[in-house]
Amino acid sequence: MILVLDFGSQYNQLITRRIREFGVYSELHSHRLTAEDIRRINPSGIILSGGPNSVYEEDSFRCDPEIFSLDIPVLGICYGMQLMTHHYGGKVESAEQREYGKADITIHQMSKLFEDMPAEQVVWMSHRDKVIAPPEGFQVNAVSPSCPIAAMSNAERKLYGVQFHPEVRHTEHGNQLLKQFVFGVCEAKAEWSMENFIEMEVEKIQHQVGDRKVLCALSGGVDSSVVAALIQRAIGDQLTCIFVDHGLLRKHEADSVMETFSEGFEMNVIKVDAKDRFLSKLEGVSDPEEKRKIIGNEFIYVFDDEADKLKDIDYLAQGTLYTDIIESGTETAQTIKSHHNVGGLPENMQFQLIEPLNTLFKDEVRALGTELGVPDHIVWRQPFPGPGLAIRVIGEITPEKLEIVRESDAILRDEVKKTGLDREIWQYFTVLPDFRSVGVMGDARTYDYTVGIRAVTSIDGMTSDWARIPHDVLEKISTRIVNEVEHVNRIVYDVTSKPPSTIEWE
Ligand code: XMP
Repeated sequence: MILVLDFGSQYNQLITRRIREFGVYSELHSHRLTAEDIRRINPSGIILSGGPNSVYEEDSFRCDPEIFSLDIPVLGICYGMQLMTHHYGGKVESAEQREYGKADITIHQMSKLFEDMPAEQVVWMSHRDKVIAPPEGFQVNAVSPSCPIAAMSNAERKLYGVQFHPEVRHTEHGNQLLKQFVFGVCEAKAEWSMENFIEMEVEKIQHQVGDRKVLCALSGGVDSSVVAALIQRAIGDQLTCIFVDHGLLRKHEADSVMETFSEGFEMNVIKVDAKDRFLSKLEGVSDPEEKRKIIGNEFIYVFDDEADKLKDIDYLAQGTLYTDIIESGTETAQTIKSHHNVGGLPENMQFQLIEPLNTLFKDEVRALGTELGVPDHIVWRQPFPGPGLAIRVIGEITPEKLEIVRESDAILRDEVKKTGLDREIWQYFTVLPDFRSVGVMGDARTYDYTVGIRAVTSIDGMTSDWARIPHDVLEKISTRIVNEVEHVNRIVYDVTSKPPSTIEWE
């Protein structure tokens, strides 16, 4: 296990990611972890991440100085290297200007980190302060035009520092450098795979749950589906899932989820048909936030009602991901999602939580799903908002408008899938604005709805760009929607990025 201590760099999750990609388990933890905590975790190596602070600032993030006496190899990246320098009595200088972007480094003293690499390399720098004198016993390994010490090491004590960011793709040999640290210096073993993750988790869940019962809210989204499949693998029939059909799902979605889990996986899934309940609460409501609130609350009431009917449930399973924990749990994190999910469950429920995905990233959850036999159409599902189609019908929701969005969305998904672009595009869906316009069909005038197509590329949904779907594909989609969906006579394509727009229209 390689432990990454978080000093607030925007890249720190990436370090953990890269190491897991090598087959070595890695976790990102707060810099507040004590040497005692670390001794207990017993990692093969520690990485100190970068961060926005300066080591000379009063309230800058520090680590327990005792961690340098644990006899565990340490790699300091950027601020991490400056912290190590400061600790061992070297000199860090605060510069006026920030160095940001690509830089050339020259290796003039070989170290284990740079083995078998060219002497000249392109790296990614993002720093203000820099090390100007290494601590005693440290060797300078690389320089760059603006950094007299771009890399340093004390091989005997297995301490390494780099001013640049090896975890960023723009650093030409970054992956290789991290590998040298993980395997060459820390001598870690590549034993982390989805197969042994399943084995470990199944054992853990069986041990924790014993012969008691677990409840899971299944939405058909990737996370809840994979959690359900994993827990079922561990405890079979002791798991019960509740799937709420709020009438705002996409075409065939409810059937497809039920078919996959209750038939394919032979899972205990209780499907709650709550369409009327939700739609009647939404009648006459046109404000987006009001819609979200009504749907969120109603979901909780429905779930509560169903859970009450079941006896002897002790545990509630949730698909919390590692990113959810990192985003809400560290004091250094800069971005926090504000969307509340409709899957958000009642806070006062008397269950213990099981969150078996809380050490995984999204793409690892997908790999886990595949390993567990969850079909591709679920594992690779695009994100779908909890309030569903309600926020894609702009303004007041009527059954007719829902039908237009549902049908046009099905055509769009069908055509995008045919092009094979479905895994490249983050989200693609249709929206129904609250207006009509004039058209001509055959020889007759029409006065009908406009359908908007929204398709975006994104890494995490926080920012996005509009997807460049080829024109001939758009033409086909447009023709099909106008021909096949009643009351639509115009199609528009949304060409705004986020910011300034958002992905959804409401
Ligand atoms: P926006 O529209 O803010 O959306 O750019 C970013 C991502 O969040 C999804 N989204 C939601 N998800 N409940 C959810 O569970 C919501 O109320 C909600 N609103 C937006 C959106 O689909 C996109 O993936």
